[in-house]
Amino acid sequence: MKMHLLILTLLLQLQAIVIPTTLALSICKNSCGNIPINYPFGLQDGCGAPQFRNMLNCTTDLFFQTPSGSYKVESIDYNKKSMVIYDPEMSTCSILQPHHDFVMAEVQTAIIPPSQDTVFVLLNCSIDSPVLNHYKYLCFNFQGHTCDELYGSCNAFRVFHLSTTTNSSPPCCFTSYNTVKFMSMNILDCTHYTSVFDTAKLRGVGPLDWVYGIKLSFSVPDVGCGACEKSGGTCGFDTDTQGFMCLCSSATNSTRDCAGGSVISSGQKIVPWTHCSQLLVSFLAVVTGLIKVPLILQI
Ligand SMILES: *[C@@H]1O[C@H](CO)[C@@H](O)[C@H](O)[C@H]1NC(C)=O
Ligand SMILES: *[C@@H]1O[C@H](CO)[C@@H](O)[C@H](O)[C@H]1NC(C)=O
Ligand SMILES: *[C@@H]1O[C@H](CO)[C@@H](O)[C@H](O)[C@H]1NC(C)=O
Repeated sequence: MKMHLLILTLLLQLQAIVIPTTLALSICKNSCGNIPINYPFGLQDGCGAPQFRNMLNCTTDLFFQTPSGSYKVESIDYNKKSMVIYDPEMSTCSILQPHHDFVMAEVQTAIIPPSQDTVFVLLNCSIDSPVLNHYKYLCFNFQGHTCDELYGSCNAFRVFHLSTTTNSSPPCCFTSYNTVKFMSMNILDCTHYTSVFDTAKLRGVGPLDWVYGIKLSFSVPDVGCGACEKSGGTCGFDTDTQGFMCLCSSATNSTRDCAGGSVISSGQKIVPWTHCSQLLVSFLAVVTGLIKVPLILQI
């Protein structure tokens, strides 16, 4: 009886060492500043969904990385599946800055494109601009707002009123992301741009009160992350194969969940749980050298 208790204690202790519980520190960094980082995003390689690999960078702040640069992430709404980013080099009502292109990678355009209610405003377009000629149809009426209103109410844009020799201000164009995706700012032939989001609420609201920035709406890959999280794991992926991986502890990953799915231990081998505990038992037997395996299995 005493022997049984001793073995049981040893077994439990060994289990605690080999299989850290969910109390162990999370393997993936789950915030950057005050912005929570959840699936499908990840800060370290192997965390989050592979499609979102290398998209975020947490240095002083959280940044969204695209081929045209790093954009500060203002917020992430996991319920609405949206992320608001800000281009510090973009013009707004209060600051005029020369345009530079906003370019996203192919995969970003597919899984985290600018939302439908994000409007790009091309400013001070030349009369030869494609959006004033052949591609005129790409410009739309934006909640009744006009170029004149924009040039008139924003300090930063007032210069456009003065820069014209005729009586009218230079043209502008309210358009969608697709326009700037397919035509660079140089092709568009407009010297500045700005972008505004939550545009459905902006009828009758003056440009001073618009919210400048770009809202992206992301889709979450359906790979069974729910089951993994329910079992206390963190969703990630195998950095070689990009296959789904439930990260259970620093020593164990699973292809499904931490409760009983196939487990990948540090040996990189897929070992079913039952087999795993048998190994544990044999190991214990060798360590103690006191009893035979069948006796322990009886407990
Ligand atoms: C992260 O973003 C910052 C801010 O733009 C940038 O300077 C830095 O190079 C980025 N780091 C990496 C590892 O990409
Ligand atoms: C507006 O565009 C014209 C060319 O179309 C350019 O010469 C002018 O400098 C621009 N205005 C400002 C304030 O950048
Ligand atoms: C678990 O997965 C993460 C992310 O892919 C990896 O960094 C880690 O080495 C894996 N651990 C094991 C034990 O396979």
